[in-house]
Amino acid sequence: MAYRMFEGKEHASIYQMYRFTPPDEVKNIILQYLDKKKGQPHVLAVDLGCGTGQNTRLMAPHFQQVVGIDISECQVEEARAVPGHPNITYRQGTAEDLPFPDGSVDLLTAASAAHWFDQSRFLAEAGRVLKPRGCMALLCFTLDNARLHYQDCGEQLDHIYKEMKQELSPYASTPVAASQNKLEDLYSAIPFPDKERVEGIWVKLPVSVRNLMGFTKSFSMFQAYKRKDPQMAEDLLLKTQKRFLEKMGVTSPDTKMELEIEYYCVLASKPQ
Ligand SMILES: C[S@@+](CC[C@H](N)C(=O)[O-])C[C@H]1O[C@@H](n2cnc3c(N)ncnc32)[C@H](O)[C@@H]1O
Repeated sequence: MAYRMFEGKEHASIYQMYRFTPPDEVKNIILQYLDKKKGQPHVLAVDLGCGTGQNTRLMAPHFQQVVGIDISECQVEEARAVPGHPNITYRQGTAEDLPFPDGSVDLLTAASAAHWFDQSRFLAEAGRVLKPRGCMALLCFTLDNARLHYQDCGEQLDHIYKEMKQELSPYASTPVAASQNKLEDLYSAIPFPDKERVEGIWVKLPVSVRNLMGFTKSFSMFQAYKRKDPQMAEDLLLKTQKRFLEKMGVTSPDTKMELEIEYYCVLASKPQ
């Protein structure tokens, strides 16, 4: 089953503004895995569910060619508008039907996206397009245990953020639950014997209160809430921002705090 949750122009521009680029820690784990399993040369990487291209651009310096693919034309348009990466091409398309010959791809990545794919069709396609010993890397973060830091009020900020996530939770779809479950089912279904899941990659990201609210806006569950009740959804964000600022004792939403989140990565290498 294909999900179409990220189609609108406004949602895509929120993605471009507020989504985090995956941290170097995760990128290094992926590139080291590829070096260990397949080695050089790094010719072609394909970033599936690329959204507005944050992870695609991260891969660009390490490959001769990178292709970002997303089911949403609006996301791809936003990604194309970012200049300065001549070895990246973006295409509208799906992870279940890839426009590459058999055995032609060194690395397939999907950042916060694999949980949206049709599992069996995606895995069959990955097995077809990867080169022998080519790798897939499905990276994501979990929000369940995210922590906020600002002076000595981190715990209170966590509490406020948790309350907001609880209000949004009825709007989370089944795939979002799978991503918070660290892609357990998808991991089990990968047919390659050589696979591993790296967990506990904790990173601290500096983020302003404004940008944390923007990041929250990019969530599919927020967008689902907004479709149901636009006013209530916007009010929830405004209320949460106000509570954060009061607790922090500041007035500017550009005040920076730290968001500590756990990334994980499912890695697998196609047999020779
Ligand atoms: C949560 S967003 C992640 C975007 C980006 N990779 C990031 O890290 O910010 C998931 C993306 O996957 C795309 N997507 C969902 N199902 C897809 C499919 N079957 N094939 C390709 N892209 C898909 C959506 O359009 C969306 O842009």
